[in-house]
Amino acid sequence: MPKFLEINQKIKTFKKSLIVSGDKSLSIRWVLLSSIADGISVSKNLLISEDVLASIRAIKKLGIKSKIEKNRCIIYGKGINGYKYKKNITINAENSGTLGRLILGLLINTPHQIKLKGDKSLSRRDFKRISDPLSKFGAKFKLKQNKNLPLYIKGSNNLRPINYFENKGSAQCKTAVILAGLRTNGITRIKALKSRNHTELLCDYLNLPIKIKRKKKYDEINVTKAKKIKTLNYNIPSDISSSAFFIVLTALSENSELTIKNVNTNPSRIGIIHIIKKMGVNIKFKNQKTYKGEKIADIKIKGTKSLKAINCPTKFNSGAIDEFLVIFLLAAKANGISYFKQLGELNQKESPRLKWGSKILRKMGIKNIATKDTIKIYGNPQLKIDKKIIIKNFLKDHRVFMTSVIAALSFGGKWNIYDQDSIRSSFPNFLKLINSLKK
Ligand code: S3P
Repeated sequence: MPKFLEINQKIKTFKKSLIVSGDKSLSIRWVLLSSIADGISVSKNLLISEDVLASIRAIKKLGIKSKIEKNRCIIYGKGINGYKYKKNITINAENSGTLGRLILGLLINTPHQIKLKGDKSLSRRDFKRISDPLSKFGAKFKLKQNKNLPLYIKGSNNLRPINYFENKGSAQCKTAVILAGLRTNGITRIKALKSRNHTELLCDYLNLPIKIKRKKKYDEINVTKAKKIKTLNYNIPSDISSSAFFIVLTALSENSELTIKNVNTNPSRIGIIHIIKKMGVNIKFKNQKTYKGEKIADIKIKGTKSLKAINCPTKFNSGAIDEFLVIFLLAAKANGISYFKQLGELNQKESPRLKWGSKILRKMGIKNIATKDTIKIYGNPQLKIDKKIIIKNFLKDHRVFMTSVIAALSFGGKWNIYDQDSIRSSFPNFLKLINSLKK
């Protein structure tokens, strides 16, 4: 593989339809839940990316077999207490925050100490947000500098239920506590700011003992101990976070049109749709249906002549948390000043993404002012880039790489974008699909 991807040309008008890869959040949840189900679970269209493969390797370390065939993955679950493994094992969550955090909920009663490690990017991320609530159940943790990986977890066989207020809007924290609650006698009570609710929908579908009261800003979730988990056959819909790159590319390409098929349009994930509609983008859902609690639709999008600046309502933040980098590209071309706030969580991702968003825009010649949790973007509807732009040393953050590709194809210039292999973590066929729009 060359050291960097070189892009010297804007994309030409396209009218196409495509299918993006399976949803990452659902794929990882399916792997983990199937590993504690009672018997064989089969998925279709599982995302085969490094984050999901790391999840499969993690359950293998815990004694759970699996098989990947063409479009199917099979997991041979051994029941809720079925993990069998040697002493002193290490689980490597690699680049995946979702795997690293969720699996700790499942290890809350592990009899032997387990080491959890990750790559350079994951090792700088905050794990105290998980170890804090999980220690209250009774598990013991040792973390590097009290908050980072590698960490050690030793479970307890005398777990106590907890009351937990999840105040970051983090689905990973919420899910880890739900999974721990499913292993604990008594009622675990969670009050969680709104965040993606795939875990709750899956638990509902599996008839697990979880009760949810939806309030305007947060959900109240009560969880009790599960005796048994049914197997879970599941067709994974496409990922809206991966679709987002193609949505923005199309919106920025004046006469282009694109249909993205069978996308997971769970209301807790479609912040990007609300935001870009407000910016004047023409985007519609077709063939809407519900599958095992998840909303699914084909997304139809048209290139947009003139984009409006936005003072982005914070109520959309959690539903668009993985999409802001690429949304900032729309703000770069909008007529006026856009303002995004309460986005400190972005700097907790695979790279400090608010900083990277600001840096990419600056390199593009777009004035912007970023603080630790806000960014003001001075849009330029006439933006054309003709200089050389180098993007490197971004901790291999897949979304920094893909956002840079979309910027290069939309605005021109001579881009050298390093670390192409970063796309393996969430969207290995990203560049193949980009190339399919050029044919
Ligand atoms: C995810 C939750 C979000 C998101 C991540 C996937 C999940 O993280 O950014 O890409 O699958 O639960 P946080 O829980 O840290 O917000």
